[in-house]
Amino acid sequence: MKRRNILKLGSGVVITLPSCSGGQKTEKAVGRKLESNPAPAVIGKTGANTQYRQPAYVNRGLRNPTMNLPSEFGGATVTHSRGLSGQPHVAMTFDDGPHPQNTPRLLDILRARNIKATFYVIGQNVDRHPGIVRRIVAEGHEIGNHTYTHRKLTALGNSEVEREMMKTEEAIIRAAGVKPRTMRPPYGALLQQQRRMIFSSFSYPTIMWSVDPNDWRRPGPSVVASRILSGAHNGAIILAHDLHSPTVDAMPRTFDGLLSRGYQFITVSQLLAQKSQQA
Ligand code: NI
Repeated sequence: MKRRNILKLGSGVVITLPSCSGGQKTEKAVGRKLESNPAPAVIGKTGANTQYRQPAYVNRGLRNPTMNLPSEFGGATVTHSRGLSGQPHVAMTFDDGPHPQNTPRLLDILRARNIKATFYVIGQNVDRHPGIVRRIVAEGHEIGNHTYTHRKLTALGNSEVEREMMKTEEAIIRAAGVKPRTMRPPYGALLQQQRRMIFSSFSYPTIMWSVDPNDWRRPGPSVVASRILSGAHNGAIILAHDLHSPTVDAMPRTFDGLLSRGYQFITVSQLLAQKSQQA
């Protein structure tokens, strides 16, 4: 494939990157080149956040505790479903994005409340919408690996599983310049042997969850919100999907409800770092 992704960096600096993983060529150019060179259609969609306006904070509380993140987080534990520090912290996780409309809408909702979350992105969606992934990272959220094609990994051999992980990791690095620290298996399906293999090859702990509102069944925003609020606990890892518009609709009342109950929001690797500090 000769298709290229064009990243627009700040005022006028353009870097053209090959979209395949073989990355040999990097070009720099000045902004005028972007104007004289209309971007291909796929870039037009991802460039939508040039129109982005920062929403105002609703309230300026300490909602994202400042924590030093040790390079060793999560210890030697391969699978995590919750944090164990006992503090009133929760990790909101959003799977299956980035989605061109729902993810930016969710980011606005998060930003308006100064809340950080973790996004388990699908690699092929990252390649479609790299600009949204960059915005996720730029606004302080964490990115996790949710495979490239969202297949059930228990049906795949080790080399195919590695390929799913590697292609996604490369897509995230291409899009946003960061390496994911954790992974979540599609459908929560991953053999113990596969979890150990991924942990040793990629250093990814497997992240499950402790609160599941079953939002993918689309029970309606108020049901999603009330399930999360009734299930929340100290150290909760909460599963949701920014793929689904009604889930995003549920988030203002979910976040406000969690805040009013005294919870603070941290990312998954922050939650794991707390656990390893305790251990
Ligand atoms: Ni998924």
